[in-house]
Amino acid sequence: MTSTITIPRPDDWHVHLRDDAMLDAVVGYTARRFRFAMVMPNLIPPLTSVAAAVAYRDKILASAPADSGDFRPVMALYASPEVDLDDLRTGIADGVVAAVKYYPAGATTNSEAGAASMRDLMPLYEVLADTGTRLLVHAESTDPTVDIFDREAHFLENQLAPLMDEMPELLVTVEHVSTAAGVELVRDRPGTAATITPHHLARERSDLLADGMRPDLYCKPVINSEADRVRLVEAATSGDPAFCLGTDSAPHPTTAKYGPKAKAGVFNAAYGLEVVAETFHSHGSLDALPAFASHNGCAIYGVDAPSDHITLVREPVDSELATQFTTSAGDEVVLFGVEEAMQWTVREADPKG
Ligand code: NCD
Ligand code: ZN
Repeated sequence: MTSTITIPRPDDWHVHLRDDAMLDAVVGYTARRFRFAMVMPNLIPPLTSVAAAVAYRDKILASAPADSGDFRPVMALYASPEVDLDDLRTGIADGVVAAVKYYPAGATTNSEAGAASMRDLMPLYEVLADTGTRLLVHAESTDPTVDIFDREAHFLENQLAPLMDEMPELLVTVEHVSTAAGVELVRDRPGTAATITPHHLARERSDLLADGMRPDLYCKPVINSEADRVRLVEAATSGDPAFCLGTDSAPHPTTAKYGPKAKAGVFNAAYGLEVVAETFHSHGSLDALPAFASHNGCAIYGVDAPSDHITLVREPVDSELATQFTTSAGDEVVLFGVEEAMQWTVREADPKG
């Protein structure tokens, strides 16, 4: 049976666009499909000043293909003691800084400049609370004694929840929520939001580890149990306005993914929406896709709803789909979600309906 759904143009509230040849290679995937993209600041060096964020935003727009439509990158600064708080206030007032991203030092790719503890950056959170700006949190403990699959829950309990108790006015988005514990924290605390990725919705840790270890599915926070995945799907399909799509698309060259010590990150900008559509379809919840992919994030970040739409049709694609791309620097990147993309065609909706 064919399923068809027309949705307002979706947004991606968490994406890594990288720099230079990698930026040139990936930006079109995001820019052609999504309208707003919350661009992550974990470059080398990290984006800790408004000037750096503006320069990066200009570079992204210059790299975006001509047919990118209404694509709008929005910038997050990197939470670090290096952030000048007057600069941050100016960036927020000028509408350049949309959010600030907290990385626990050492938790993930390019997180070395992050803080050791959430408590290290209290004055920065005061500025965010004051201005109603969201703190985006990579919620993963770096305590080596904590099991890798328990690190999100551990961080929430020991770092994020105590901070939120102390500063109830601080608006928090739990990024790429990956566990039942994360879903619970968001539900228990009004005003708290979460992004959920296509890969955390559609895969569980046995996919990562059981049938030949899969570096292409390795990311942070690590894909967790089937029970956790089920809770994420329930949250995403529930219509709860606290949950929105953030792909966490994070390209790494195959040389970094398939060597010793695979880098964390899944490149899903190309087919992530199809993966989400397939997950919602399998759950019998395709009707909930517009809320999750298009509406909820706009409300969370206070932006207008889009005026254009796209249509997703579930019918097998009869051509071959790309499984990887190569940058102009010769780096190959594997595309996540080909299997699901084979089941869906996405096209611009006819404006006359
Ligand atoms: C991201 C990256 O590669 O920049 N990797 C990842 O596994 N998600 C960083 C991040 O968001 O954790
Ligand atoms: Zn990320």
